[in-house]
Amino acid sequence: MTIIDGKAVSSALKESIKEQVATFPEKYGRVPHLTVIRVGEDPASVVYVRNKEKACEAVGIRNSTIVLADTTTEEELLNLVRALNEDDTVDGILVQLPLPAQISEARVIETIAREKDVDGFHPLNVAGLWQKNPHVNPCTPAGIMKLLASIGVDPKGKRAVVIGRSNIVGLPVAKMLLDANATVTTCHTRTVDMPSITREADILVVAAGRAKMVTADMIKPGAVVIDVGMDRDPETGKLCGDVDFEAAKEVAGAITPVPGGVGPMTIACLMENTVTCFLQRQP
Ligand code: GUN
Repeated sequence: MTIIDGKAVSSALKESIKEQVATFPEKYGRVPHLTVIRVGEDPASVVYVRNKEKACEAVGIRNSTIVLADTTTEEELLNLVRALNEDDTVDGILVQLPLPAQISEARVIETIAREKDVDGFHPLNVAGLWQKNPHVNPCTPAGIMKLLASIGVDPKGKRAVVIGRSNIVGLPVAKMLLDANATVTTCHTRTVDMPSITREADILVVAAGRAKMVTADMIKPGAVVIDVGMDRDPETGKLCGDVDFEAAKEVAGAITPVPGGVGPMTIACLMENTVTCFLQRQP
């Protein structure tokens, strides 16, 4: 049984990005610049945004973080995004989700210039993924595909089951697994008899957002289990995933821990996307 070391895979990717970025001042006269906007004080968002700052520092990408009050209006946020779109010194714009209820996430996402959309959330990037046209991949799904590659798992011909159908993880990772020639099934809250489906999975991706919802009896012996959850254990209050890790690791062939699995990969892929956007903006 392999515990998939997302921290190590992420560190290796960040190291190669760092070496690449180090060549940019001589080639292009500057380094990439990522601007992150956080609205309000959602505790998970505070942690995520801080980790993005740390990653930028580690790879030599310039970072600006803008923190706005949770009373910010949609128009104020859209005007800030428009100004950053016009700012030639900014290569990537990321607005941390979720946003307060008075702000439409869809309107914010469609306002970010497509060429600065390091999250891969813009409708044109989403369409690019689904229509196999050039696009930026969303960071968490891209990180999951790299974790599979890191342990030598080729999805081709395998049965993949994804639990969750969000725009950020479930839907795009299902499409990326399909494009990698897996046979893909998506489960969700209305799925009847989920264990009968997950037990068929060679690759099980869990992005349900519910602590320990996947139990050992739902896992095919030897399967690769990718846990995208970031939950609190209701008993201990400790950070845990959507998979009951201690029981699942006795059945799975390989499994990601929480923390230290998918999370670090999301951030490394964000660094990669920022470099991609920077390079595409060079004259
Ligand atoms: N909130 C949770 N995950 C993400 C992400 O990948 N990008 C943004 N912008 N917000 C998030």
